[in-house]
Amino acid sequence: MSVPAVEFAHVSKAFSGRVVLQDVDLRIPAGRTTVIIGPSGAGKSVFLKLLVGLLQPDEGRILVEGEDLTRLDEEGLYRLRRRIGMLFQDGALFDSMTVGENVAFPLRRHTRMREPEIDAAVASVLASVGLPGTQERMPSELSGGMRKRVGLARAIVLDPDIVLFDEPSSGLDPVTSDAIDQLIVEMRERLGKTFIVISHDIVGTFRIADHIAMLHGGRIVARGTPEEIRHSPDPVVRAFLRRNIPLPPLPGEREESP
Ligand SMILES: Nc1ncnc2c1ncn2[C@@H]1O[C@H](COP(=O)(O)OP(=O)(O)O)[C@@H](O)[C@H]1O
Ligand SMILES: [Mg+2]
Repeated sequence: MSVPAVEFAHVSKAFSGRVVLQDVDLRIPAGRTTVIIGPSGAGKSVFLKLLVGLLQPDEGRILVEGEDLTRLDEEGLYRLRRRIGMLFQDGALFDSMTVGENVAFPLRRHTRMREPEIDAAVASVLASVGLPGTQERMPSELSGGMRKRVGLARAIVLDPDIVLFDEPSSGLDPVTSDAIDQLIVEMRERLGKTFIVISHDIVGTFRIADHIAMLHGGRIVARGTPEEIRHSPDPVVRAFLRRNIPLPPLPGEREESP
């Protein structure tokens, strides 16, 4: 395999002696969508914060495109974060700015682009997430699904190598979360970037994932393609999945009545 987009090597993290991640070992392939699933409190957000260098691991190494993030100084971390786009759980839009200003924000901050170029880039990226011509709208006028789309536009406007999504369908109704899942699939095809999605939505996970890793109790308890995960014999995995999707019975396992 070529250099993974992200590699966690024996990463552990505790807060005041309470272990949150334990010996997490995971390679995330480039150019694919990997979904990290796990119940609430499993350590998913801590995983993301480690990945962007907002937290340091107690043990282990974290490599992003082969570069050891635990050895980077502030300048190095800044450069690294520019290569990573992030769609925050609540969209994290600036409510006092228009949609256009929100999307332009990273361009103003990280590039020397001039206004006409910025306007063109913003128009183009808003169109690509299905929101053409919404530059002058205010975030407060938008639906939850539209806010996520604006958040995604802002996350990809700098053309990052890696896009992180923290619970992209949280807080959305089922129809809107289906539409966001569909958008994630389309964008991944179109952009060819590495997508890393944090989720506890199992149904959505199976729609968007090329690879799935399951976090439970601070450990990676399963990893594989959606098919491999669906057929995992691991009782923890099966118990977690079964709450949300019908599972084929394993050989020797009794069919359960719904
Ligand atoms: N900065 C922190 N200080 C202390 N405990 C934390 C901190 N961040 C997360 N935790 C704890 O780590 C555990 C995992 O949290 P989190 O990664 O947010 O879970 P998830 O995102 O999977 O729901 C939780 O028990 C949480 O209370
Ligand atoms: Mg979380």
